[in-house]
Amino acid sequence: MSSNKKQVTNNLSSCNFCSFCMKICPEDAIYVDVQKKEWKLKAKRCTKCKRCIKKCPAQCLSMQVQKEHKGLLFTPYQLGGITLKNRIVMSPMCMISCLKEDGHLTDFHTIHYVSRAVGQVGLIMLEATAVTPQGRIKTTDLGIWDDTFVDGYKMLNRMIHDQGSHVGVQLAHAGRKASFGQPIAPSSVVYDDSTYTPPTEMTKEEIQEVIQAFRDAAIRAKAADFDVIEIHAAHGYLIHTFLSPLTNKRTDEYGGSKVNQYRILSEIIEAVKSVFEGPILVRISAEEYNIDGYSTKDYLDYVIWMKEQGIVLVDVSTGGLTPQAPKAYPGYQVPYAARIKRKTDMPTGTVGIIVHGIQAEEILSKQEADLIFVGRELLRNPYFPIYAMKELGLKQEVPYQYERAVR
Ligand SMILES: Cc1cc2nc3c(=O)[nH]c(=O)nc-3n(C[C@H](O)[C@H](O)[C@H](O)COP(=O)(O)O)c2cc1C
Ligand code: SF4
Ligand code: SF4
Repeated sequence: MSSNKKQVTNNLSSCNFCSFCMKICPEDAIYVDVQKKEWKLKAKRCTKCKRCIKKCPAQCLSMQVQKEHKGLLFTPYQLGGITLKNRIVMSPMCMISCLKEDGHLTDFHTIHYVSRAVGQVGLIMLEATAVTPQGRIKTTDLGIWDDTFVDGYKMLNRMIHDQGSHVGVQLAHAGRKASFGQPIAPSSVVYDDSTYTPPTEMTKEEIQEVIQAFRDAAIRAKAADFDVIEIHAAHGYLIHTFLSPLTNKRTDEYGGSKVNQYRILSEIIEAVKSVFEGPILVRISAEEYNIDGYSTKDYLDYVIWMKEQGIVLVDVSTGGLTPQAPKAYPGYQVPYAARIKRKTDMPTGTVGIIVHGIQAEEILSKQEADLIFVGRELLRNPYFPIYAMKELGLKQEVPYQYERAVR
C-alpha cells in the first residue's frame, strides 16, 4: 500500500515547534500547535513552494515522495489468544469522573469509551481502576473492589465489543500517591514533601491483602467480559515503588535485591493468571529520570522475568516515581520500548505524543514496538484511527452508519 505523493514531511523528533513554517506558508497549509506540540500539513493546500523548508531553523522539513508503506498500523495483531483488528490502543487515562466517589461507571465513561470504539481503536484500555478503595489516586477514580462493579463493566464491554473493538482494564493501586487517607508503600518514603502524606510501611499481611485484591479484581474483570488485563506497575504507584531502589528500602523478602523488589509483581502476576485466562500486559516506567533510580538496562531483568511468567506485552512508559520529568517531544518514549523489544524479545507497546498515522507506521516498520498506545490525541480526536487511515492513503473503514461521509 502506498500513497506515493510528493509532500512536505516533518521529522517530528527534531521539530522545536517554533511555528516559523506556519508563519511563512502562503497557503496556510501548515498547522503548528506549540502548546500541544502538534504539527499538521493540509496536503491539499500545499503548492510545494518549499518556503517552509528554507525557513525551518531545525532543518527538519523536507520534500519527499512519501515512502511505500505496508499499512502495518491497520494489520491485525495477535495478543495472546485474541486478535486485535489493528495496532492502535487507547492508552489508559484517568477520567476523575466518579463524582459520587463510589468508583462506579458514569454515563460519561460509557460515552467516552464507546466513542473511541466507534472511532475504530483496536483495543480500548480503561483507565487506572482501583483494586481497593484506598488504592485510588483520587476519590473520583474508577474501582473494581467488589462484585457490585461487574454488571456496569459488562454492559460497557458489550457496547465496545459491538463495535468490533477489544477492551482491557488497567488494574491499579496508587500506593504512596493516593491523595486521601493514609497511603501505604513498601517503605515510608514520601513522594513530595509538600503535598503528599508520608506513607506507612506495609506489613507482610498488607502485602498479601493487596495481592489478593488484584486476584479478586481479575475474577471480576473476567466476569465482566474484559478481554485483557493490564497491571499498572508504572508512574510511581504501588507496584512501581516496590520495583525501584529509590522507594523500596525493605530488608525482608520484598526488598534488598532485584529478585526481592520484583516479588510483589511476580506474585500479583501469578494471582491474576490463576483466575484470568486472557492476555495480561504490564505497564512499566522504563526510566526513572533519577541518577539513583532505575533505567531501561535495570528493567531488562524484570521484563525477562515477566516474559517467563507469561506476560504477552510490556506497555513501556517512563517517569512518575519522582517529580522529575523529561522534556516531552513526539515519540520521546519510543527508544525505551525499542530497546526492551530488541534486548528481551518481549513484544512492546509504546506511548507518548504519537499523533500521526505516518509516525505510528514508521515505529512499527522499524520494529520499535508492536502496539501504538495513544493518549491525548484520542482525547482530542476520538476518530484518530480513521484520520490515520486517511493519512496513510488507506481506504477509511468506518461504521456503516458513517459510510456516506467518506465515500
Ligand atoms: C488525562 C490523563 C490521564 C492519565 N491517566 C493514566 C492512567 O490512568 N494510567 C496510566 O498508566 N497512564 C495514565 N496517563 C498517561 C497516558 O496513558 C499516556 O501514557 C501519556 O498521556 C502519554 O501519551 P500521550 O502523549 O499519547 O498522551 C494519563 C494521561 C492523561 C493525559
Ligand atoms: S511548501 Fe510552501 S505551500 Fe507547502 S507547506 Fe511549505 S510553505 Fe506552505
Ligand atoms: S518544522 Fe521547523 S519551522 Fe516548523 S515548527 Fe518545526 S522547527 Fe519550526
